[in-house]
Amino acid sequence: MKFLEEIEVRGKTVFLRVDFNVPLDEGQNIRDDTRIQASLPTIKYLLEKGAKLIVASHLGRPKGQFNPKMSLKPVAAHLEKLLPETRIIMAPDVIGEAVDKLKASLNVGQLLLLENVRFYKEETDNDPGFSRKLAEGCQVFINDAFGSCHRAHASVVGIAAFIPEKAAGYLLKKEVDYLSKITHHPEKPFVAILGGAKIEDKIPVLESLINKANTVLIGGAMAYTFLKAKNLQVGKSLVEEDKLEIAAQIMKKAKENQVRFLLPSDHILATSIESQEAKTTVDSYPFPDDLMAVDIGPKTISEYKNQIKTARTIFWNGPLGVFEVEAFARGTIEIARAVAESEALSVVGGGDSITAIHKAGVADKINHISTGGGASLEFVAYGTLPGIEALQ
Ligand code: 3PG
Repeated sequence: MKFLEEIEVRGKTVFLRVDFNVPLDEGQNIRDDTRIQASLPTIKYLLEKGAKLIVASHLGRPKGQFNPKMSLKPVAAHLEKLLPETRIIMAPDVIGEAVDKLKASLNVGQLLLLENVRFYKEETDNDPGFSRKLAEGCQVFINDAFGSCHRAHASVVGIAAFIPEKAAGYLLKKEVDYLSKITHHPEKPFVAILGGAKIEDKIPVLESLINKANTVLIGGAMAYTFLKAKNLQVGKSLVEEDKLEIAAQIMKKAKENQVRFLLPSDHILATSIESQEAKTTVDSYPFPDDLMAVDIGPKTISEYKNQIKTARTIFWNGPLGVFEVEAFARGTIEIARAVAESEALSVVGGGDSITAIHKAGVADKINHISTGGGASLEFVAYGTLPGIEALQ
């Protein structure tokens, strides 16, 4: 994979794919600009080196329809603030005559932001005709959209076939460099922490980690599918009934591979998430029928912390409890602190775990906070992503 600095961009029209899929509030204000900030080094470099810069991103899932609530206009306004010296031009569309005119009249050092590429269903279909239109008039393709690289979409993958010169931007390179340390020869002991609601979207990463990690610590609602697969009665905790078999297989494989696969040994129970109140802490089964697990208990926190202390490499994705609710946040926050205190190389991915890291106030103590949720999981699972392959 070529890197941005290896390509001459002066005077050239550059198509830059970023992931500006940022959260917006009701008033269309950007709630968190981390992803925009993360691609600023690439944008600044290209502008300073004299590129004519076309920037493209998706925002949300508009399903191939124009949707003003998912317009990139608020991002254009934000870029104007972040880059006061640069002329930012907001395109009225993604492709078409008006956009072609703007592309053709773009000057060196100017930035043309296209509308949300997902306003066209051809984007998610990876339609070659659409990719060709996106590529029209561009001599260089730079991908800095790590968070989208697991999507084989037109502006991420298809376009690469229509632009001869292509490379990774600073963010994509940094993400790949860090995540590769996890996937290729991680320093041992390697401790992986996986939480969140469902096993469903984590099966490939679990299958990969039980071959690579020394220890896998499980938390969040997904733990209860594993516990139920061990025939333990977990009350009304969230269980994916159709994943019990795969959960059992994963645990069996972990045992064969001599991977320590730890499930919570005690649990904070509540009547519901909405109750916002913990009812009891238990370390035995069955759970009362009317209670559900909402966080890991103090014994589990201490066991998990002991494992984290021994690690030389840590990968964490997904909260260990319903951390949005104050009364159920302790497990996630304590684990965030333990990861931060560790001497290990720490990589954290996924929106919720990142929020937890910020909530715990330890973001500056984590080696790498990935901007990709699904993308970081798939990278750890497969060692590459479609968007990365397209740059080869
Ligand atoms: C993300 O937020 O993980 C990326 O921007 C990808 O978005 P998607 O899941 O809608 O493809």
